[in-house]
Amino acid sequence: MTRILIVDNKDDNREAYAADVRNAGYEVFQARTPEEAEEVLAKELIHLALIDVRLLNDDDDNDRSGLELCSRIDSSVPRIILSGVSDWQVVRDALAPIEGKEPLAHTFFQKTERHEILLNEIARVLAAEYEVIPDRRIAILTSGGDAPGMNAAIWSALRTALAHGVEVYGVSDGYKGLLDNRIGKLRWRSVADTLTTGGTMLGTARSKEFRDPNKRVAAVDNLLRKHISGLIVIGGDGSMQGAKALAEDIRKKGFELRTVALPGTIDNDLAGTDMSIGAATAVARVMHEIDTMVAPARALGRIFVCEIMGRYSGFLTIEAGLCVGAEALLLPEELVVVKSGHGDKADWEKYVDIGATVNRVLSEVEHVADCLEKAFVAGKRHAFVLFSEGIRYLTTTGATQFINAEIVAERLQAAINRWTYPDKPDVRPQVIGYPMRGGSPSRSDMHLGIELGAAAVEALLNGKTNTMVGWSESTHSITFTPFDEVVRLGNRSPAIKFAERPDWKRTLELQRRLVATMK
Ligand code: F6P
Repeated sequence: MTRILIVDNKDDNREAYAADVRNAGYEVFQARTPEEAEEVLAKELIHLALIDVRLLNDDDDNDRSGLELCSRIDSSVPRIILSGVSDWQVVRDALAPIEGKEPLAHTFFQKTERHEILLNEIARVLAAEYEVIPDRRIAILTSGGDAPGMNAAIWSALRTALAHGVEVYGVSDGYKGLLDNRIGKLRWRSVADTLTTGGTMLGTARSKEFRDPNKRVAAVDNLLRKHISGLIVIGGDGSMQGAKALAEDIRKKGFELRTVALPGTIDNDLAGTDMSIGAATAVARVMHEIDTMVAPARALGRIFVCEIMGRYSGFLTIEAGLCVGAEALLLPEELVVVKSGHGDKADWEKYVDIGATVNRVLSEVEHVADCLEKAFVAGKRHAFVLFSEGIRYLTTTGATQFINAEIVAERLQAAINRWTYPDKPDVRPQVIGYPMRGGSPSRSDMHLGIELGAAAVEALLNGKTNTMVGWSESTHSITFTPFDEVVRLGNRSPAIKFAERPDWKRTLELQRRLVATMK
């Protein structure tokens, strides 16, 4: 039922409005003072407020306490000013648009007019402000790296929510926007042209501030003022930790925030889902980028060492490697050495044996050079070696030795220069970076985003919380995994996670069988 708050300090006036508004089928709340009104607004999701200009002293022409109340209450509550005939100037100011600010009220009602006119105004404002009169509101945000297909998930979550009578607010720039109160209502048409676009229409960020519980207080406040009781977060496992912490802060204040996450990252490095939103498109982008390098590779008889994004996950390298017929793949799953007993711990990165890892990479480069020589003897004239950036990340742990595409290319060139085969190709490094995250989503990412966006809303409505909604390729169905589990399983070394992905291993074996020479 539509809930209307009437704020007027004159009891007989207020009661008279209340009776007529109630008779028109609305649920009515009443307040005499600004304080009482704010108490009601904090407790109840109010759809519209009728606020008298003067709430403290009716005889004081300068009393604008009603307007001051309007300036304090949340923008999600539309207001109608109740005014006397002499208040026309005050009302004009209240309705005037001031740059960068919302007008204090949507319209006004002259108290000498018939109540019928007030009821018309109420109906008009409600129709303009709401597509559904919500019992419940949810918010949606994207966090971490953008990924193609996020917009499809937002589109589908919004349309599903509205069909259930739930209102959706979009948060700009991830958790950062939640802290800064950049939270705006999404309408059915807000997503009209976004479904097939890449990136995220909401913007995203990696917010360090949000990890600080003292800073999060602002986010809690901003959500509670709007009576948002569900949050959909599209991102990686760091984003899920943020959502869980926020829900806990809100629980401590005596309210409930249900949180559901969708796996949104090109890296496909999350437990609890076979595919994350954006990964399939990123593979296609790598294929495209490499395709554009084939002409120079062929013309000059070159070998390109291409560094592929994916953080510690080799998924993009494996998939793209198979599909472009790359000669060799260097993967963190096979090359990063973690000191024994630490691979399944969240702090495994601290225990990477940098020396052993570097040695393993360099000896793998020698092996790749041998394989390439055989391929060139067999008639190959150019080649691609894909190098997963997860190995490069080791530099951030303070290592004295480091690896990057240039170093791999240099070492490979040195090994090639020792070939007995006379026609030695040049090697060049190429980082394939942000183009991988851009562009429109592929068919499968659109489908995945749409499936998961709808499922996220259903999950919230069914009472799920602190849960990631994922996708099982084998059963072709939605999966649910608690955030804690996604985070625990995700925070393990690449090698340990790889052991649980027989599908990736199979792809890798196939790739290696297919590029091996006959002799
Ligand atoms: O997580 C997605 C990703 O593109 C990774 O593959 C990459 O390592 C990282 O983001 C880059 O992050 P940023 O754009 O914040 O530098």
